[in-house]
Amino acid sequence: MAESKPQDAIALLKQDHRTVEDLFAEFEKASGEGRKQKLAEQICLELSVHAAIEEEIFYPACEGKIEEDLLKESYVEHDAAKLLIAEISAGSGQSDDFFDAKVKVLQEEIEHHVEEEEKRLEGVFAQARKAGLDMDALGEQLATRKAELTETYKATGIPKPELRTVGEVTA
Ligand SMILES: [Fe+2]
Ligand SMILES: [Fe+2]
Repeated sequence: MAESKPQDAIALLKQDHRTVEDLFAEFEKASGEGRKQKLAEQICLELSVHAAIEEEIFYPACEGKIEEDLLKESYVEHDAAKLLIAEISAGSGQSDDFFDAKVKVLQEEIEHHVEEEEKRLEGVFAQARKAGLDMDALGEQLATRKAELTETYKATGIPKPELRTVGEVTA
């Protein structure tokens, strides 16, 4: 797809958001366990890669440049999503009575999180843009890492969630 010019970091991240929204919409319409399972796996893969590149590259670049509270909330929202992603990708759809509910709640969480990132003027992206981050350089780093992680996760599965903000309760 986008292999020509380096892509602006925010454009890349927004494109990821749209991809996942489309997948959630497809999941809502889908019938048949096999199809739903496949879509859920794809959603989990996309979101895991996306969260990882934001946490490895984009959020650290925002550190000290955007509102600290907003950035902290983003990490907590990622952790909450990772727990559901781990649940969804560990279970097989057919045997989990809560499978559809988990996907639905994940969708709602992600909708909220995406809004926090994309909100006009005060969202994470708007603040980062205003702070003058080098979006071309970041975009290139994000794209490279995204390709690497996608390949790895496809080959070895999504790794156990690495939670950054959640303590002992989950152990
Ligand atoms: Fe995002
Ligand atoms: Fe995010």
